[in-house]
Amino acid sequence: MFQVVLALLFSAATLQLTVNAGAQQKAAFVRLDRVTASRALANGVEIRSGAAVMQITALRDDVVRVRVGPAGQLPEDASWAVLPSSRTAANVTQESNGSVAGFKTAKLHVAVHKDPFGLAITDNAGHVIAQDLPGRPIEYHGSSFRVYMKSPSEEHYFGLGDKPGPLDRRNMAFTDWNTDAFGWQQSTDPIYKSIPWFITFNKGICAGIYFDNTWRASFDFNKEYRDGYSFGSEAGPLDFYVLYGPEPKTVVESWAWLVGTTPMPPMWGLGYQQSRYSYYPEAEVRRIGDRLRSERIPADVIWLDIDYQYKNWPFTVDPEKFPHFEQMIKDLRAEHLRTVVITDLHIADQPLAKYKPFEEGIAGDHFLKKPDGTIYEGVVWPGRAVFPDFTRKASREWWGTLYADFVKQGVAGFWNDMNEPAIFLVPSKTMPDDTQHRIDEPGFAPRVANHLEIHNVYGMQNSRGTFEGLLKLEPNVRPFVMTRASFAGGHRYAVTWTGDNSATWDHLRQTTPQLLNLGLSGFAMAGADVGGFAGSPQPELLTRWLEVAAFHPIDRDHTAVGTQPQEPWENGTAEDVSLRRRYIEERYRLMPYLYTTAEEMSRTGLPLMRPLFLEFPHGEADGGPLDLSTGNAFMVGSDLLVAQSPYPDQVDDYEVALPPSSWYDYWTGSRIDPTSGRKGIDNAAIAQPEVHIHRTLETLPVFVRAGSIVPVQPLVQSTEEEPEGPLTLRVYPPTTFGAACEGSLYLDDGVSYDFKKGDYLRMQFTCRLSPQGLIVTVAPRHGSFAPWWKLLSIEVYGATKPYGAANITALDHSVGTPVSTSFDAEHHRVTALVADDAKGMQLQLAY
Ligand code: NOJ
Repeated sequence: MFQVVLALLFSAATLQLTVNAGAQQKAAFVRLDRVTASRALANGVEIRSGAAVMQITALRDDVVRVRVGPAGQLPEDASWAVLPSSRTAANVTQESNGSVAGFKTAKLHVAVHKDPFGLAITDNAGHVIAQDLPGRPIEYHGSSFRVYMKSPSEEHYFGLGDKPGPLDRRNMAFTDWNTDAFGWQQSTDPIYKSIPWFITFNKGICAGIYFDNTWRASFDFNKEYRDGYSFGSEAGPLDFYVLYGPEPKTVVESWAWLVGTTPMPPMWGLGYQQSRYSYYPEAEVRRIGDRLRSERIPADVIWLDIDYQYKNWPFTVDPEKFPHFEQMIKDLRAEHLRTVVITDLHIADQPLAKYKPFEEGIAGDHFLKKPDGTIYEGVVWPGRAVFPDFTRKASREWWGTLYADFVKQGVAGFWNDMNEPAIFLVPSKTMPDDTQHRIDEPGFAPRVANHLEIHNVYGMQNSRGTFEGLLKLEPNVRPFVMTRASFAGGHRYAVTWTGDNSATWDHLRQTTPQLLNLGLSGFAMAGADVGGFAGSPQPELLTRWLEVAAFHPIDRDHTAVGTQPQEPWENGTAEDVSLRRRYIEERYRLMPYLYTTAEEMSRTGLPLMRPLFLEFPHGEADGGPLDLSTGNAFMVGSDLLVAQSPYPDQVDDYEVALPPSSWYDYWTGSRIDPTSGRKGIDNAAIAQPEVHIHRTLETLPVFVRAGSIVPVQPLVQSTEEEPEGPLTLRVYPPTTFGAACEGSLYLDDGVSYDFKKGDYLRMQFTCRLSPQGLIVTVAPRHGSFAPWWKLLSIEVYGATKPYGAANITALDHSVGTPVSTSFDAEHHRVTALVADDAKGMQLQLAY
């Protein structure tokens, strides 16, 4: 009897799947092993393989899209990730003959070998960008399918979002299924996000592949086949894009073209942020705010986790714990501290409580339903809860209105947690597969989809509702939303963090590859819970974590309920506290550089935190990407290299392999003299210079690329405080005559969109080394934003003695005025203080 019931249940589930999954998935077994017909398209080629159809089209000269319909009909041309503006078409020239159907663009050749079927995309120099794995044509087994590609032995893979593990995805396999992964470890997969996008790197030739499929998908790099990688899904469209570099930066920028960039964050989002699960009552929040200020720990944000709410009901405030909530927000603000509050998506199932989110949601038919038409309920923090139908535009818009009261009260930012969605008390940790999601959305045919299709985009659409709602409420304020779950393109709406990590050394180490892969996947504004979420850190771990996090895009100290206090002044010696303070202070000094890099991110998609190979794609002598096997180093912007120990708990000294350039020590200002000529194990000289690091608690090694100019500011306690004194330009001269030397600065009011109307400030700086000395040029300002400084302090590093004469020349005059300089031997710098009249100038320093 039991078996009969099970069988009935099983077949009902199967039928459900088939009905919901769409026409293209009815085929039982389809193999695209031979081209049976082909025809030219204006922007590509269409192939038939029996009943199956494949279209390969060029969106741009360097972007190709492949779509397949196993039963002769292409999948719906709709996407949660790809921007409507990127649905472009490039002109192509057909390149077909008896055995090949294909075309070329100005940059790529696409050839489909007819029998046996074989797809190859090559560049003009003949580099293979993507090529089918011979003998493994695309196959459908029912609704599931897989695409196999060749993987040359020197090829490396990056991306796929927040997945733990090493930076390089080679020899790893992954699943995309957003999962609440409390206490995840290196081998845990899947975790919170699904970003089916990866970058291939083969001897400096890079491309990106985006698999536009929201269902449970999987990726295999060299596990099943040593010479192949593959991706596929249990259902949904076979639709992928190939984005050609060959430079890795071009690939990342093209990814941003396809799915959008991270929008310009408010400047305070780059400040230090203090959180825990949870600060309450009100007096405790005030105590934390006061203590940040009395300890002189610069900070911009205090976070309120679930306990500020009444019985964990989202969009409520517990009147007993927070009797003067609005006043508290105001008082914190007076101390230049903003408040971010959690607003989870699980609306408490409270029909009799006059609970507005529930009542309005019911009245507006905004909640998800079961196949029988009743509302789906799951247990989360509030107990029984109901869930908005975020793939309906109307429901997202309603969700956005729920923020009105908090915005009016002065809450500055919002946290969308648990949106995988996480459900308690069920083994799947999420909603049933047959939960019904209504798709009612521009660009999509309206229909009902089951949870299997929507699960991976649910969190993204939740944060989209929040972001767009906040913009509606305050159109000229940059929203700050943080989400835990998301999908490709979700960075358009929210910043993110790596979820429930642990207070262990291994997790400190893991922050580097995880944040780097997130950045390469679009989430350029990302952080990890500083100090670790699960458990309490040893004092040294907290200190070292706070040191390195000062260089992460988001610097937020957060910990779980029941752990020891984890604020910078807790859990450590006076030395620990002063080091933690010093590194957070350094972040605030670097704010002009960080903010300038954030602006670049919002324009180009280049992340703040970058793997070395993004800046130095040709760094290794053998053409491979830098820093894979040993390092834990990263770049901040294009000029700073942060090199914590590869294993931060090991007490040993270590070597940092510096990318090909000359470098300066960020802390001492001295030129690095790398030990060159070290021998490798095969006794051949290693070309790459290395610097020997004696590991200390005081100094996190940071290096500056020669030929860069880094803007920094006087110390402030919050981004809202106006710095007093000059803007400092730290000039790190190149080491050869004529070599490039540059830097820039971007500034605006930090919170609004007035920059779109020209109210910003841009400055360009260059320097040039000549046999006579050094010339630093500040170009005339652009934009109408009035800065806080009147003076520029130009600091030239690497100096071992004072310069001779120094002159300032206006850009429109040839006669120089002498200017005095000072020499600081300890910091290897010569400083000149000059007026900044907006018109630009040259500083000439003679030897
Ligand atoms: C899970 C989140 O990952 C964590 O950061 C948060 O503190 C808890 N939910 C409570 O809201």
